[in-house]
Amino acid sequence: MVIAAQWFLGTEAGRNFLSRYPGQYEQPDAPGGYPWWLNWAHFFNAFLMVLVIKTGVQIRREIKPEAYWTPKWGRQRRISLTIWTHNALDLLWVLNGLVFVTLLVATGYWSRVVPTSWEVFPNALSALVQYVSLDWPTTSDWAHYNSAQELAYFVTIFVAAPLAIATGVRMSGLWPGDKPMLNKAFPVEWARAVHFPVMIYFVTFILVHVILVFATDALRNLNQIYTGQDATNWTGFWLFVLSLIVIIGAAVAVRPVLVAPLASLFGRVGR
Ligand code: HEM
Repeated sequence: MVIAAQWFLGTEAGRNFLSRYPGQYEQPDAPGGYPWWLNWAHFFNAFLMVLVIKTGVQIRREIKPEAYWTPKWGRQRRISLTIWTHNALDLLWVLNGLVFVTLLVATGYWSRVVPTSWEVFPNALSALVQYVSLDWPTTSDWAHYNSAQELAYFVTIFVAAPLAIATGVRMSGLWPGDKPMLNKAFPVEWARAVHFPVMIYFVTFILVHVILVFATDALRNLNQIYTGQDATNWTGFWLFVLSLIVIIGAAVAVRPVLVAPLASLFGRVGR
């Protein structure tokens, strides 16, 4: 594929394609840079996602739950403590996402992650061919993302996340079980069939995302997303290491003995 991409970009048609679609189109001016709230929302998102994925996988593997949680208001709605943990984390993740999207819209940063022209598609193709050719597109992330990045961020924020939420709510106790029309319009089987592939999408996105962060000007990228500064020094990298320690620590700590006291503030925990 590398050789094919290099060959194509060397032909007349390839050169014309590249000059017509350099990998990025004329975008409205976003404010530029990474404000502190974006840095924090991005960190909380990564932190919560690791825990959400861990507990989600646990739910699927669990044969006999270690404990159950019964809400104070409805005895018949008993769920496993793992599902309670997953849902509590989901709620925090959704709140963080709502704050993030609200601030994106309010500050004008939305235009960096929402395509504003159909030109995004041929440009994304161009950026992908350039990635595959190993002659990577050079863009300034500080101001704008290239079209492949923009599409990936857009799909992650505005397609995958809402899908995860809608299918998750459908399977949860929040969904009204006594509305036959509603249940038929959105069958729980669909929700089950979609929720897991969405998780696989997130995992794939995170892998490619982090690999590219490290493969393209790592120190500068890490400074941008962790300190909000456009600098090439080690501060962002060490903050990244610290954030990994916090995330892994939390992932290890999320176990029934530690979660049960928290869950019992909101309901009854028992076997
Ligand atoms: C520890 C792991 C992570 C690192 C090191 C990291 C790093 C970065 C960096 C450096 C940027 C700036 C973009 C750039 O320079 O090209 C960025 C932006 C972004 N990241 Fe991550 N990321 C991580 C995890 C995640 C996760 C788990 C998600 C969600 C699934 C995510 C979603 C995004 C999005 C949507 C943006 C664009 C934000 C905007 O400009 O509004 N990242 N990330």
